[in-house]
Amino acid sequence: GQKHLQPLYEAHELLNKFYHHILVNTKDGQEALEYLLSRGFTRESIDKFQIGYALDSWEFVTNFLLKRGFKPEEMEKAGLIIKRERDGTYFDRFRNRIMFPLFDQNGKTIAFSGRTMGGENPKYLNSPETAIFNKSKILYNFHLAKPAIRRQNHTVLFEGFADVISADWAGVENSIATMGTSLTPEHIALIRRNSQQVTVCFDSDHAGIEAAFRAGSLLSEAAIDIRIAMMPDGLDPDDYIKKYGEEKFRKEIIGGSLTWMSFKLLYYRRGKNLQNEGDRLAYIEKIISEISILPNAVEKDHYLRQLADEFSLSLDALKQQMTVSGSQNK
Ligand code: UTP
Ligand code: MN
Ligand code: MN
Ligand code: MN
Ligand code: MN
Repeated sequence: GQKHLQPLYEAHELLNKFYHHILVNTKDGQEALEYLLSRGFTRESIDKFQIGYALDSWEFVTNFLLKRGFKPEEMEKAGLIIKRERDGTYFDRFRNRIMFPLFDQNGKTIAFSGRTMGGENPKYLNSPETAIFNKSKILYNFHLAKPAIRRQNHTVLFEGFADVISADWAGVENSIATMGTSLTPEHIALIRRNSQQVTVCFDSDHAGIEAAFRAGSLLSEAAIDIRIAMMPDGLDPDDYIKKYGEEKFRKEIIGGSLTWMSFKLLYYRRGKNLQNEGDRLAYIEKIISEISILPNAVEKDHYLRQLADEFSLSLDALKQQMTVSGSQNK
């Protein structure tokens, strides 16, 4: 029986509608709406993604749910309210935050993430894991993006909510996000069941580039064709779209994404000074060993020539080195 889960689904559905209503139709939501519009979110996107606002109150949602007959213990387990140790009373988890509902594959609301408009920590407060919300299985926007993902046999993977919403607005409908966590085997299985190609489009800051390397490694181990899209100047995809526009994003960032090997060429030279002989030799060794494990002979040849050109090395020497390195990799 899934019957005991029904009140959890109902409470989430009800609150999702309520938060959205507060944001778009009421004076209490006006400041939050202005915040979103000033960030460049459109009314259409706000509706499509059912963005909402949680009032600046300790008990509004608690009372709202209890009045409708939901049991407080159940609502606490649903992660919507929190019990006070001292007297056993309850208070609202989400207060004065922009609310992003999270959906399962059937489009049912199963959790929320609330963004502060000030500088509070955390920036995004998430529902805890519950009987209906398992973070390691959920990819943001998967339920809406799935038809486009299947049609194009291609997924674009982002870090965050704002990135997906802006990319979708920019016409990239096959957009989903990990919500800042690392990719789990369940995520990878879900992606792989629906598309063969993935473009990883993470933030171009230090954390994002490291995360893109990890995600790319996992996806390529799962035999998915991957590309890595990078933004200039430490921007994230949402920032980029708002600064440079939709078309440039589609053509230059998604269209100009790097192959996994080209990304690794950049990745492994970060923080190295290739004028320095030791760094240069270590880099060349690393790249040769990466080339040696490429499955395709034409690709191997392509990247070996590129390496030979860049460092004025003989192709023969590189090939010889690759045989040594390749046998070490076995
Ligand atoms: P970012 O820090 O890159 O945030 O985290 P963002 O998406 O650019 O957010 P904006 O543009 O400032 O609004 C990427 C994602 O990691 C998750 C969220 O899903 C976020 O979108 N995250 C981040 C959390 O869950 N909690 C946090 O405190 C921060
Ligand atoms: Mn609406
Ligand atoms: Mn980030
Ligand atoms: Mn970001
Ligand atoms: Mn951002």
